[in-house]
Amino acid sequence: MKRIVVLVSGDGSNLQALIDACQQGRINARLSAVFSNKASAYALERAQTAGIPAQSLSPSAFADREAFDLALAADIDAYQPDLLVLAGYMRILSPAFVKRYAGRMLNIHPSLLPKYPGLNTHQKAIDNQDSEHGTSVHFVTQELDGGPVILQAKVPVFDEDSAEDLSERVQTQEHNIYPLVVSWFVDGRLILRDDCAVLDGKVLPAQGYA
Ligand code: GAR
Repeated sequence: MKRIVVLVSGDGSNLQALIDACQQGRINARLSAVFSNKASAYALERAQTAGIPAQSLSPSAFADREAFDLALAADIDAYQPDLLVLAGYMRILSPAFVKRYAGRMLNIHPSLLPKYPGLNTHQKAIDNQDSEHGTSVHFVTQELDGGPVILQAKVPVFDEDSAEDLSERVQTQEHNIYPLVVSWFVDGRLILRDDCAVLDGKVLPAQGYA
């Protein structure tokens, strides 16, 4: 059975969606371990409840980003994962870390990439009076939130929306699309080839599978 390691920083609702999908057989893989850069992340409790080894590493215990990522990679590699899933992992990755997991690292980002890489995406959509917003699952490459998109989900933006309203609406979609994309990867249907996402042998367009 394929092995997945998940990186988190916060609530872990996407981790929960992956746990549920594995338990229900929608993802044919084992969640081998969960790592957080924050000891207080509720995601760690979710992992423990599901019987998944969960551990936090504090960046302040390391000299720099490279040293932290090297230690994290050593811990990750002990589980020999086929796939690394970033699920609300709010840390910039060092180039060496990205290179190490090239083609086997996925991220979910709360915007319709290439719109709004970085932080505060929901507020940006509101400030720009966008009529639609959403979320994107993509392969991780050296460009921050810039790797090839695999799948997006759109949500409407209403006049009275707060960033929290929008976040909630977006996350409901995330919990559908992330397990689906992970299942494609695990089933060998999805690969990264020449910096493009390829699903069932077809190169996906810039905005992912439609
Ligand atoms: C998710 O909405 C995810 O898209 C976002 O953080 C949230 C984590 O929620 N990720 C990023 O902003 C990464 N740049 P969760 O902890 O409940 O899964």
